[in-house]
Amino acid sequence: NTNELILAVETSCDETAVAVIRGGREIVSNFISSQIETHERFGGVVPEIASRKHVESITLIMEQAMAEAGASFRDLSAIAVTQGPGLVGALLVGIMAAKSLAMALDLPLIGTHHIAGHIYANRLVHDIVYPSVALVVSGGHTELVVLESEGVFRIIGRTRDDAVGEAYDKVARSLQFPYPGGPHVDKLALEAEEEIVLPRAWLEPDSFDFSFSGLKSAVLASINQSRMKGEPLKAEALARGFQASVIDVLVTKALRAVQAVGAKQLLLCGGVAANRGLRAALAARCEAEGVPLLIPPHSLCTDNAAMIGAAAHLKWKHGEFTPLDMKAEPGLSL
Ligand code: KG4
Ligand code: ZN
Repeated sequence: NTNELILAVETSCDETAVAVIRGGREIVSNFISSQIETHERFGGVVPEIASRKHVESITLIMEQAMAEAGASFRDLSAIAVTQGPGLVGALLVGIMAAKSLAMALDLPLIGTHHIAGHIYANRLVHDIVYPSVALVVSGGHTELVVLESEGVFRIIGRTRDDAVGEAYDKVARSLQFPYPGGPHVDKLALEAEEEIVLPRAWLEPDSFDFSFSGLKSAVLASINQSRMKGEPLKAEALARGFQASVIDVLVTKALRAVQAVGAKQLLLCGGVAANRGLRAALAARCEAEGVPLLIPPHSLCTDNAAMIGAAAHLKWKHGEFTPLDMKAEPGLSL
């Protein structure tokens, strides 16, 4: 085990986050300033406001992360930052801050992929063995990724339209819940006594891709129908039907991917990994099939900088540094 300290910065969406990580796996400090309350009244993240809020918070969050770590800037070995994907103006704020620090301290800069971060959040709490499969489920992503070896990814499935979290948020919105609505739909679904059965989008028999827009439309159509007929809205039964459809497809395809590549583990990550129904269903299927399931604690599933430090450390080990003229890459591929 090694002791180098990496300071990591994450500003790809609506959280301003800075962490200090020791040896790639130990969280020394981990700070997050969430903008959810700011964006809530708009029903989603407003990019321009997100950038402005990042500018206001980044220096303070950086100082807090360093103070909590009890470290001096001279103790750092590298500066890591999310390079993409994400909102370009939001990414830029973190990148500028990270570049300035790297330049002032004469330290290597490590541009990091946001999804590699979500995946390697697991590294902060679990031992990952290869090959394994990661199911990445967040507000912006739904992907099945094969981890061939350390830091080597192969995407075998992705959503063709909405990300899972996005579909949750849209369904929640149509049921009058505030942003982000995923947790509200999760709660409603688990409390429901009835279920309105909704379609599952399996796509081609051998496909690992996903599609959630048809399901989302089915929910909206059902809501509109109730309105037009003047009938009471069956929100619980709809939430349960929606969640059952999402989980059925995610769990089935994830386990099929595990079998197809002979994966030794299944990793679950991203904000939707907080979904209680999904966790329970995956745990049951993995147990039945003898597949170890790794899930980070909730605070490491949603956007944070510790996960960026964990992913960046693998690049640090191989001397894969990023030039100081690095640009934000809103559509960066894994
Ligand atoms: O990973 P994340 O924090 O941000 C992105 O990178 O997108 O994920 C946020 C997403 C939101 O869409 C939110 O509604 C969803 O995760 N989410 C959930 C739950 N908790 C958060 N979706 C379903 N059930 C939950 N319990
Ligand atoms: Zn994320």
